[in-house]
Amino acid sequence: MLECAISAISMLRQKHVKALKLLYRLLRRYEYVPIHALASKLGMKADTTRKILEYLMNMELIESRKRDYEGYKLTWCGLDTLALHKLRNLIELKEISHRINVGKEADIYACRGIDGRLYIVKTYRLGRTSFSKVKAKRPIYETTAGWLVMSSKAAKREFQILTKLWEVGVSVPKPIAHAYHMILMEFVPGRELYKARLKNPLSVFRTIINETLKAYTKAEIVHADLSEYNVIINEATEDIWIIDWSQWLPSDHLEAENYFRKDMENIVKFFHKKYRIDLNTLRGILEDTIRAFGKD
Ligand SMILES: Nc1ncnc2c1ncn2[C@@H]1O[C@H](COP(=O)(O)OP(=O)(O)O)[C@@H](O)[C@H]1O
Ligand SMILES: [Mg+2]
Repeated sequence: MLECAISAISMLRQKHVKALKLLYRLLRRYEYVPIHALASKLGMKADTTRKILEYLMNMELIESRKRDYEGYKLTWCGLDTLALHKLRNLIELKEISHRINVGKEADIYACRGIDGRLYIVKTYRLGRTSFSKVKAKRPIYETTAGWLVMSSKAAKREFQILTKLWEVGVSVPKPIAHAYHMILMEFVPGRELYKARLKNPLSVFRTIINETLKAYTKAEIVHADLSEYNVIINEATEDIWIIDWSQWLPSDHLEAENYFRKDMENIVKFFHKKYRIDLNTLRGILEDTIRAFGKD
C-alpha cells in the first residue's frame, strides 16, 4: 500500500531525498550500501550521514544491517516515496490511496490529477510471487535488490511502448509519466471485456483485432498477453482500450508471430464461448483483416 510513502513525503527535506536517490542509484552495485560509500558520495561525515539514515529508517524507507559491515538499502516504501515525490507535480497525493487491483506483477491505484481528472498509477511489484513465465521472457538481474531495479525497468519498458502505441494511434490509455517503478496513465472509463455484456459483439471483435494488427504493423509490437482480461470496454460507446503491455515483444522477435497468433486465438475463443459466434466466422474475419493489413 502507498500510505507509508504518502505520509513520509511531507516529512522529507532535500537531504533526505538526496540520500534516497543515492541509495537507489547504488542498488545495482550493493545489496546493502556501506556507510562509508554513502558518506563519501554525499560529501558528509559518517556521523551526519548516519543521522539522515536513522531518520529514513524510522519511516521504514530504508533498512540496515550491522553484520559484517554497516550497510543500508532501500525498501519498497522508500522506492514508492521516490516515485511519488517525482509524480507529485501531476497528482493529488491525498487522493491516491484507493487501490483498485492487485495483479500478479503490479498494483493499480486510481488517483486524481492536480488538473482534476482521473488517472491510474500502475506500480510494479516484481518478486512478490513466482514469475516463472515472466522470467522466461525477461533477462534476470543479478543482485537481490534486483526486484526493485527490475520493477523500475519493467515500468520504463511498458511506459515507452505505451507512448509508441499512443503515437501511432493504437487505442491504449494515454501515458502521462513514468517514475521509477510507477507509470501514470489516463484512467479509461469501462470494464474488462470478460465482465461486459455487449450488444454488438462482432463489431467489438473486429475493433480488437484491428487495434492489435495496428500495433503489429505500425508500432511493430506484439502484445503477447492479450485476453479478455486486458481489454477494457465502454459498454455504452463500445470504445475499447488494450491495456497491460508489460509482456510485449518486437515484431521481429523469433517468437513474435507465435505470440501474435496466440493473442488472436484467445480473443477468437472468448467471443466463441461467451457470445456463441461460430469459430469459422471469427477466424474468417481475422484472416480477412490480416490480409487487408498486408495490402497497406
Ligand atoms: N488505464 C486504466 N484505466 C482504468 N482501469 C485500468 C487501467 N489500467 C489498469 N486498469 C485496471 O487494473 C487492472 C489491472 O491492470 P493491468 O495493467 O492489466 O495489470 P496486471 O499486470 O495486474 O494484470 C485492469 O484489469 C483494469 O481493471
Ligand atoms: Mg492485466
